[in-house]
Amino acid sequence: MQGIALEATIQSQRKKEIVEYCNSLEQFIDKESVALLENEEHWKEIISSIEGTVISSEKVKQRLAKHDSKLSGVKEVIVKKSAFTGNAKDIDPDFRIMREYEVTDQSSSEGKVKDFLDYFTDKYNFLHGLFSKRAGFAPKAFDRLKGVKQYEEVDIIGMVMKKWVSKNGNLTIELDSPEGRFIAIVSKEDNALNRDAGKVLLDDVIGIKGKKFSDEVLIVKMILWPDLIQRQPKTGERDVSVMLISDIHVGSRLFMEKEFTNFLSWLNGNASSEKELKRIGKIKYMVIAGDNVDGVGVYPDQINELSIKDIYGQYEKLGELIREIPEHIEIFMCPGQHDAVRRADPQPAIPKEFIKNISDLGNVHMVGSPSWVEIEGFKSMIYHGASHHDMYMATKHLNSKEPQLAMIELLRRRDLSTGFGLTQPYVPEKRDFMLIREEPDFYFAGDMHHKGYAQYKGCMCVNAGTWQERTDYQIRMGHIPTPGIAIDINLKTRKLTENNFAGGSEENGD
Ligand SMILES: [Fe+2]
Repeated sequence: MQGIALEATIQSQRKKEIVEYCNSLEQFIDKESVALLENEEHWKEIISSIEGTVISSEKVKQRLAKHDSKLSGVKEVIVKKSAFTGNAKDIDPDFRIMREYEVTDQSSSEGKVKDFLDYFTDKYNFLHGLFSKRAGFAPKAFDRLKGVKQYEEVDIIGMVMKKWVSKNGNLTIELDSPEGRFIAIVSKEDNALNRDAGKVLLDDVIGIKGKKFSDEVLIVKMILWPDLIQRQPKTGERDVSVMLISDIHVGSRLFMEKEFTNFLSWLNGNASSEKELKRIGKIKYMVIAGDNVDGVGVYPDQINELSIKDIYGQYEKLGELIREIPEHIEIFMCPGQHDAVRRADPQPAIPKEFIKNISDLGNVHMVGSPSWVEIEGFKSMIYHGASHHDMYMATKHLNSKEPQLAMIELLRRRDLSTGFGLTQPYVPEKRDFMLIREEPDFYFAGDMHHKGYAQYKGCMCVNAGTWQERTDYQIRMGHIPTPGIAIDINLKTRKLTENNFAGGSEENGD
């Protein structure tokens, strides 16, 4: 009898939860529908998939039938765990999350004038310091230009305030420094220099080699960026790999659940060959570079594009999927603009408690965007990539099919931000967390839903694709994403391999 009473209590509790859930979505539900759903484990998902303000029993019945057939479809791709053992499973992890370089638990900005001053001062001082160490470049303070003769060569550093084309057709840049402002002129005759100057963005801190024209005006001969130093790419001692995925977009109608589930099965050792199984066995780390869920209210009318319409439901589903990743793989997950943290950069880590069903997992580490993790001695910078968009819009030579080129531009600036006032918002933190304070060995990113790889001065730039099908927005923009690809990079050989769950597999030499 006690059992029956308990079951009745659970059912009445479920009824209450169903009604409350509908209220929270501002939807009305009739008694018959509640009765149909009270014994359904996936009641939330079913309600979320019903559009309109009234949830009728007809709609519920339709969804239940659809859900059952969907479940029978999922059976084919259910994660199959095998007795697979790999090298990575038997060794201890070796990593350090470099919390000093991310905003998580360190945000102190109130958006006041003082915060902006501190932010720009920190940025200028750090980047100025990098220029000061450069051989063959001896910057003079702006107020010391008075002592220099006309047309004498001079080096100078400044932050870009304004950029325009003069009446004579010359590109003109106004720069600021603690000692005052000055004007730099790029002659329209110099094509190569104009190409370089075309990449200069507002708020960039640049070095200029030029000739003095007057006390406030300089003729530009060469533009320098803080940049990375030239060095050989590093190789690791252990034969292990790091995997990169991004932009899963759980909760979107376009989330490629079948392909993603196949990927999880594969990670658990269900490979097509011995060679592949061996390679999977080396995966010890995984970076997930943001847009983990599709979010709610990220853009107008998004609600119509969602299969799971509440953010908690989306993270619950994400958690279920993450739990299928073998526990010997250390996962570093950063947020993107679709996740449940502030949209402005730098973004703090998603609180792990938000994804309740993975809060007990010791191998899942939430990090900010940007963030840094030292993996087997490789300094790895992780950034979702929101500012890449502004790079495409602000510079003519870049495009969204080659995200790696935007990544190189940001490395040259030693700064992941692209200036205030463009599309991507920034919070002026007293310490600028967007600066690239060290020379990274890896720069992992996502956001563009398009893969891209490059090697730049010892740093491997790796941009992941997505697990979301092509969206209407992307169709309108003519952008073709590269979905269903998990990228692994062997740290000993630096070999990068694409594992394509939307078809095929491809190996790329470093
Ligand atoms: Fe995305």
